[in-house]
Amino acid sequence: MCGIVGYVGEKQALEVVVAGLRRLEYRGYDSAGVAVIADGELQTRKRAGKLINLEDLLGEDPLPQSTNGIGHTRWATHGAPNDVNAHPHISSDGRVAVIHNGIIENFSELRAELEATGIAMMSETDSEVAAHLVAVELAVDPDDLVGAVQRVCQRLTGAFTLVISHADHPDMVVGARRNSPLVVGVGKGENFLASDVAAFIAHTREAIELGQDQIVILRSERVDVTDFYGNPAEVNPYTVTWDASAAEKGGYDLFMLKEIAEQPKAVADTLLGRVDGAGRLLLDSITLSDEELRSIDKIVIIACGTAYHSGMIAKYAIEHWTRVPTEVELASEFRYRDPILSPRTLVIAISQSGETMDTLMAMRHAREQGSKVLAICNTQGSTIPRESDAAVYTHAGPEIAVASTKAFLTQVVACYLVALYLAQVRGDRNPEEIRAIADDLVNMPSKIDLMLDTTEGVRGIAREFANSTSVLFIGRHVGFPVALEGALKLKELAYMHAEGFAAGELKHGPIALLEDGMPVVVIVPSPRGRDVIHEKIISNILEVRARGARTIVIAEEGDEIVTPYADWIIRTPECPSLFQPLLATVPLQVFACELATTKGHDVDQPRNLAKSVTVE
Ligand code: F6R
Repeated sequence: MCGIVGYVGEKQALEVVVAGLRRLEYRGYDSAGVAVIADGELQTRKRAGKLINLEDLLGEDPLPQSTNGIGHTRWATHGAPNDVNAHPHISSDGRVAVIHNGIIENFSELRAELEATGIAMMSETDSEVAAHLVAVELAVDPDDLVGAVQRVCQRLTGAFTLVISHADHPDMVVGARRNSPLVVGVGKGENFLASDVAAFIAHTREAIELGQDQIVILRSERVDVTDFYGNPAEVNPYTVTWDASAAEKGGYDLFMLKEIAEQPKAVADTLLGRVDGAGRLLLDSITLSDEELRSIDKIVIIACGTAYHSGMIAKYAIEHWTRVPTEVELASEFRYRDPILSPRTLVIAISQSGETMDTLMAMRHAREQGSKVLAICNTQGSTIPRESDAAVYTHAGPEIAVASTKAFLTQVVACYLVALYLAQVRGDRNPEEIRAIADDLVNMPSKIDLMLDTTEGVRGIAREFANSTSVLFIGRHVGFPVALEGALKLKELAYMHAEGFAAGELKHGPIALLEDGMPVVVIVPSPRGRDVIHEKIISNILEVRARGARTIVIAEEGDEIVTPYADWIIRTPECPSLFQPLLATVPLQVFACELATTKGHDVDQPRNLAKSVTVE
């Protein structure tokens, strides 16, 4: 949510910053802006809309060469997405430029204070106050930009990443972070600041994690990190494990298509090294002791959106394999209902970005209550795993399309790994059982690969429904969260009314939605599993067909019982029932992607959305 780039070094700052913004545009695309310092002056360009609008403006009205630049892509919170509200925001004297991600919660009071001194605000944003406050603080000592930023940070409440440049300080860019992401890229004779390593990965893979309430002073030859009071802070350098090509489209028309195709590898990478030859789970990163894991009497999973759906699937696996009662809760609701937590509760926080504010706040609440938090996360160095007691990383690589695909499948796999690990440590299952399940899990990437062969067929089915106004998705057991995920993908990409239901619930109300010809996607469990569920969903299919629905059925190869009830059928390879989501979700991703493309929508950057939601 909002992409931020800062650069100091020998290259053309503008080029580095705009290229970085291009890689961060998935974080927000309501407006974009840049500022550079040249000949002792600060110069900015900003424009509402996507980055391309800013690039056009820079073509018409170029900026001078510079070795110091900052840039921003915005996901609007305070103030409409127009030119004036675009970042950077500039102080009244035209010397300070500020870009901001997050929400400054005490901005009204700060704004009133500034206005009382005669400072006129240009924009409706909360961010602009930071630019004026830095200018005011600089009056104390015009040479001490860092001190001014420190004093401003001490006064702000809420969540913020700030990146600041000043016309009189072309040798530095100053960054600050609280509850909002910012990483440092360490180059040779150049250094970078960004919301995400993707912005600088083409220049360096050496990065530094910044902690909470830290300030970073970026110069071409050095990087200094302090707290908000100027005390030197400890930093955590790391090397990014993927390279620039991972964040390119690599021949695909869309990032989403590329990321769907990467799923077999992403799942295989997530499994790599985590199951040994004897079928034993190896999860060294679960730094909780065996004793702590044995003492757990309840598990609570917190997550948002697609990650929440992966948590719903995890509940089935955890309870089945470990018999530990497991709740799944939307992170945005969790802390407001006074949840029952104790030191024997294990909280699992699932997040692709590791920065989702709702999830972060929920896990902080859990830790305050004495519970241990285990993060499942795709982003190294991000806040959620850093603040957790233990972390299991998914190895999906960078996910650029706003709609989550490969991150979802790898989250589900990481949940299975955690569940099996708990069963192993606690002795809930014997080693032979665990080995058999782990063997099946290790075979899943090749089965997911087979699902990619269904892509063309699924696209054809999707195009049949370009004029439908509504699509329903139904499933039972782990097929229910898959139905929810299919509906979410369709809503966010094709902007269509879509809803997922537990198939048995239809008759309790939603069946009234059915109209002649309405498409209903049915996720059918394996007939080799618990017969009763298969039989029940056949009844549910009959119910919807009797009311005129057209059924798109996802069913296992060899399940001929369902064939007469399907208008279209998509086959999945045989696999254990609990693993079916890893296969059944793939065609639903393709379905949504194709419908959105047919309707002419921007699949990678759907309207109103942003990747990494860093506000509550
Ligand atoms: C939907 C989607 C979102 C995210 C949600 C949580 O396709 O991507 O629903 O799953 O915003 O994000 P993370 O996993 O980064 O916490």
